[in-house]
Amino acid sequence: MKTEYVSMTQDDIDRDAIARAGEILKSGGLVAFPTETVYGLGGDALNPESSRRIYAAKGRPSDNPLIVHVCRYEDISRIVTEIPAGAGKMAKAFWPGPLTMIFNKSPLVPYETTGGLDTVAVRFPSNTIAHALIEAGGGYIAAPSANRSGRPSPTVARYCREDLDGRVDMIIDGGPVGIGLESSIIDFTEEEPTILRPGYITREMMEQVLGHVEVDHTIIDPKSGIVPKAPGMKYRHYAPKGSLTIVEGPADKVVNYINEHLEKAKARGEKTGVICTHETRDRYIADSVKDVGSRDNVDEIAGNLFHVLREFDDEKVTWMYSEAFYGTGFHMAVMNRLQKSAGQQIVHLS
Ligand code: TXA
Ligand code: MG
Repeated sequence: MKTEYVSMTQDDIDRDAIARAGEILKSGGLVAFPTETVYGLGGDALNPESSRRIYAAKGRPSDNPLIVHVCRYEDISRIVTEIPAGAGKMAKAFWPGPLTMIFNKSPLVPYETTGGLDTVAVRFPSNTIAHALIEAGGGYIAAPSANRSGRPSPTVARYCREDLDGRVDMIIDGGPVGIGLESSIIDFTEEEPTILRPGYITREMMEQVLGHVEVDHTIIDPKSGIVPKAPGMKYRHYAPKGSLTIVEGPADKVVNYINEHLEKAKARGEKTGVICTHETRDRYIADSVKDVGSRDNVDEIAGNLFHVLREFDDEKVTWMYSEAFYGTGFHMAVMNRLQKSAGQQIVHLS
């Protein structure tokens, strides 16, 4: 298949291209598009064949359910059995935006889209190109992140091209995304609303609206061996091709530990890399030093994380360390993705 490339901005949407994209979606084809979190790989959520194609294009296991994207709050009533009061409040507070909510699904949603589950994940993104595309495609667009399974989610259209060229009908370049990590997911089908994936909408923000919110145990303790409730969270993800270890502790000790180990790795012939901050970047001896931002600016760190993981692969780096970014709020999402990319290899120094 030949992939068509178009580009536009949120302020200047190419209506002709969107109309073509809508036709592609309505006839079962696939279109990659920007959202405020990461790029998505869209297909008609109500067409089982489209969902099968999404899994095939990504190389993704088909038990891993897709998020259905809408462009109006009212539209969710057709695809869910009921909207719990808390979910209504959350929608008011955070939609359109980087939040996904899980409901019991109506019969309209095929099991191909939900990976066989009786529940459905729904998101109303804020990107206006996404709105136009969802509308043109019939209102219900299933969209996982637009990467090949296992790779970091794409934050620019170039990464969609790298992963999906020739595998999808169209890629819409809408420039770099704003947030850079996937949406927060909260499950309303449990007794207590439960966070299944941390994101930009933090636990603290949700608790202001809902009171107490649970967090899936596997996010707090990834090594517990319990299977996460969001099927996608159990897979190794975002992993660079080489070895990545997170090193946590007092700054000076972290720098010394990493440099000592970099020296040994270099002596073995490894190509080395470090993920660090403005504050420490000049202190590392790695072949490739990636400064993801200032330590006190977690938004900046989040926005650069997936990009630097891909750059390491492009540069054929084989041995990597990262500083840790523990903290409350959005830090939880950053560490969740970083821990997944490191396959949970973490060194704690005290
Ligand atoms: O920000 C985002 O959410 C992006 C953009 C494109 O909107 N999409 C995204 O989709 O990250 P994906 O497919 O890469 O991640 C979806 C996650 C997976 O971990 C999946 O297991 C979980 O959502 N999920 C989807 N439906 C679910 C359900 N019914 N129950 C539990 N988890 C679900
Ligand atoms: Mg994904």
